[in-house]
Amino acid sequence: MCLSRQEYWKTDLRRYGQWAVVTGATSGIGRAYADELAKRGLDIILVSRSEEKLKTVALEIEMLYGRQTRVIQTDFTEGPVIYPAITEKLHNLDIGILVNNVGMNYAETLMNFLDNPNPEQRITEVINCNILSVTQMTRLILPQMVERGKGLIINMSSEAASQPQPMLSLYSATKIFVTHFSRCLTSEYGPLGVTVQCVAPFIVSTNMTNNPGPNGIIMRASDFARAALNTVGHSDFTSGCFSHALQHVALTIFFPGWFRLSSFGVRLTEKFASTQQKREIMAMQPGALNETDTSNSTMQNK
Ligand SMILES: NC(=O)c1ccc[n+]([C@@H]2O[C@H](COP(=O)([O-])OP(=O)(O)OC[C@H]3O[C@@H](n4cnc5c(N)ncnc54)[C@H](OP(=O)(O)O)[C@@H]3O)[C@@H](O)[C@H]2O)c1
Repeated sequence: MCLSRQEYWKTDLRRYGQWAVVTGATSGIGRAYADELAKRGLDIILVSRSEEKLKTVALEIEMLYGRQTRVIQTDFTEGPVIYPAITEKLHNLDIGILVNNVGMNYAETLMNFLDNPNPEQRITEVINCNILSVTQMTRLILPQMVERGKGLIINMSSEAASQPQPMLSLYSATKIFVTHFSRCLTSEYGPLGVTVQCVAPFIVSTNMTNNPGPNGIIMRASDFARAALNTVGHSDFTSGCFSHALQHVALTIFFPGWFRLSSFGVRLTEKFASTQQKREIMAMQPGALNETDTSNSTMQNK
């Protein structure tokens, strides 16, 4: 799909080094990056929560692409305590690429900050997973890239970061952190040979978005990862694919930040959230809604 016809100008990713580390690698966008990187000749270190899923994905990658794999089981919501063990497992590996993909929502649906049933715990989990993971994994792997004078770090932000988004406040704020952190690192480490790319997708069909049917707007994860990797070496800040770049422009024009933050904009978002909740309740009753209706619920996680 998008950009696939332009693959002739794709960067040779093997030049960065032998291994690629992908966080949140067992499903969705992370899994798609792991597959695509293996297809392009990298050995893959998969990092996620579930040991069982990690082993299955590792085996599939070895069989499909003939590359080596390693797995690191960890839960990024646990905070600083997990990084010494990760450091040990990465010791002595020539890591050319780091994909800081792991991320989570504050809530299953659009909601105001205090409406989460357990805000105290959830705030810590989201910040640990969406912010601390990106900064700590970068701290661990960037020094060897600087030493070799080459490397690629891909940080997964979101279209939800491009404008302040009420009812997605914490998620949207963590993602703008990722964007700013990445863009600053580009300036600091680009001259030393390390490419830092920030990717800000709109909707990709994954578990996080309840797997809506892909179409011209919603990307299949595999198509997205292929298109986004084709932008490496050409753009340090990208929506990942042409369709999402167009949607970014349209949203910026028709739903700018000042409008989203206005009382009218907030009322519209609340209305959207309540319609969406009703749809989800109805969708749980067999035959109540068809698949097309439920795909609208994906707006919550953009
Ligand atoms: N999908 C979209 O439309 C979209 C749009 C914009 C940005 N994004 C961003 O893209 C990234 C990937 O999203 P996705 O939609 O692919 O998500 P996803 O389908 O929910 O996949 C998340 C991956 O991360 C792992 N994971 C989740 N929580 C974890 C934790 N606490 N510790 C370790 N691993 C964990 C999951 O595996 P286990 O369950 O095995 O741990 C899974 O492999 C996120 O940063 C998200 O914010 C997504």
